[in-house]
Amino acid sequence: MNTRRRQILKELDLAPLWHLKSETSKQNKSTQQTTARDLMFPPDPAKDSKPCEEIQQMNWDQLKLTVSHCTACLLSQTRTHTVFGVGDENADWLFVGEGPGAREDATGEPFVGQAGKLLDQMLAAIGLERGHHVYITNIVKCRPPNNRNPSSNEAHQCEPYLTRQIELIKPKLIIALGKVAAQNLLGCEDSISSLRGKLYDYSGIPLIVTYHPAYLLRALPEKAKAWKDLCFARSTMQSLL
Ligand code: URA
Repeated sequence: MNTRRRQILKELDLAPLWHLKSETSKQNKSTQQTTARDLMFPPDPAKDSKPCEEIQQMNWDQLKLTVSHCTACLLSQTRTHTVFGVGDENADWLFVGEGPGAREDATGEPFVGQAGKLLDQMLAAIGLERGHHVYITNIVKCRPPNNRNPSSNEAHQCEPYLTRQIELIKPKLIIALGKVAAQNLLGCEDSISSLRGKLYDYSGIPLIVTYHPAYLLRALPEKAKAWKDLCFARSTMQSLL
């Protein structure tokens, strides 16, 4: 780790987060050497419980910086940019997608491709606008290659970041966009069709499931069901305000 990075981490109160492998295991000192890989890929903050606890104490800047350097899973090796999330950091509405696609990986912003355009239309349909009382993020912050679903390990490694985002935002309502978001947030393997139309509880926050906009682009007849979900979400929010 270079001096500048060490200094930045220190200023952000993150300095103890990453250790060289050679510093963490004194008993193996004689056999351990600091390799270039150690320097480029510091140990994962999400992998052991102490850094995970540290993530739960982070402010926005600390969390963003930590995500931008995350190497917790192999997605970090193929990403161009991490895609942290965007919007009102005190939003009433939190929309959670699956993971970045190609456009998102290239720009670092969630839902900027075709699915993003449809998401913006879905927001507009219930009087919402990206960035105004709305925050948008994903289950995983790095693009799964070829737009495959994130593995359960990848989602698990990324979970502390989303958990902390939710704690900081304190949304009134969470909308899970699609099966991957719904299953990870609810900790289940149920089908999207069986999860729709009900109100769930995510750590005390109401949660509603609807289709992922990318799926709706392929299955236009399902748009009517998504519209129903959005009306349900809007009336739920009205009852919460
Ligand atoms: N699909 C997602 O789930 N998230 C994005 O950010 C873009 C496409």
